[in-house]
Amino acid sequence: MTAPGTTVSDRDGLASFLSERRRVVEDALDALLPASDVPPARLHEAMRYCVFSGGKRLRPILALAACELVGGTVEAATVPACALELVHTYSLIHDDLPAMDDDDLRRGRPTCHRAFDEATAILAGDALLTLAFEAVAGAETLAPDVRAAVMLELARANGSLGMTGGQAADIEAGAGAADIGAVTFIHVRKTALPLRAAVRTGALVGGADETELEALSAYGEAIGLAFQIADDLLDVTGTEEEMGKAVGKDVDKGKLTYPGVVGQQAAEARAAELVQQALASLDGFGKRAGSLLDIARYVVERRN
Ligand code: IPE
Ligand code: IPE
Ligand code: MG
Ligand code: MG
Ligand code: MG
Repeated sequence: MTAPGTTVSDRDGLASFLSERRRVVEDALDALLPASDVPPARLHEAMRYCVFSGGKRLRPILALAACELVGGTVEAATVPACALELVHTYSLIHDDLPAMDDDDLRRGRPTCHRAFDEATAILAGDALLTLAFEAVAGAETLAPDVRAAVMLELARANGSLGMTGGQAADIEAGAGAADIGAVTFIHVRKTALPLRAAVRTGALVGGADETELEALSAYGEAIGLAFQIADDLLDVTGTEEEMGKAVGKDVDKGKLTYPGVVGQQAAEARAAELVQQALASLDGFGKRAGSLLDIARYVVERRN
């Protein structure tokens, strides 16, 4: 494994950093999820089908990297990192439901409600969300106050003032004004706050001081917004094969997107500006921030 704090400044370095951390997260997720033959087997099968379907694991990797940066260990951050991925996977399952984005393909495979059925998809999402909090509450490697802080972070970022609120505004959009304020309101809530929470979770577990936490929060929010702008752009410029999900769907469904409001070029420029902002917020860490700096660039350079 790449040594903690090591700079991963080339593409191959970043790729191996990401795949090593992904493996840590996936092994731990496997240990957290009930086996697929445990009754009710269809529910557990659906939960595993969605979690083990080749996601990038960006949120847990951000948590691990932030924890290491402030002097914590990968081991300490692993369960909180898994919780972030469980919440994310739940949000994707529900996002794809017919009542929401009505998508058939996710991570290169039929969406949960397509592979199983709608009721199972709703319940698999519910159970993954609940499991995330159960895992953190029972994480014996963490002091009780850290467990509570991580749960607060997860809850705030994903409740009605965070991701769920962003999703509600996303669904309602279309009726309202298609301006930059409206799309930013949605994107900050549905995507930037959960990514910020991922970085902050790692920082809290690693024992960050106030200055470090503030810098990492700014980094997380900036890459979070850049991430959703890139997602909107990839819906226009990417292919279904690269993305593992349908493309061109935002225009079809009249979604409020960043390129839709300001145009492709201005959206690309805004994403690049946010990445610069994210990089600048980590200046105080110097070269030790290497992996997070590389992830910030990756957020807008990625093709999936
Ligand atoms: C997709 O997230 C939903 C958005 C917030 C745009 P990711 O692009 O991180 O999806 P996975 O986890 O890699 O499948
Ligand atoms: C979803 O945004 C963000 C979530 C909170 C799940 P999108 O609806 O744009 O995500 P994709 O494009 O379906 O992955
Ligand atoms: Mg959506
Ligand atoms: Mg969607
Ligand atoms: Mg999208």
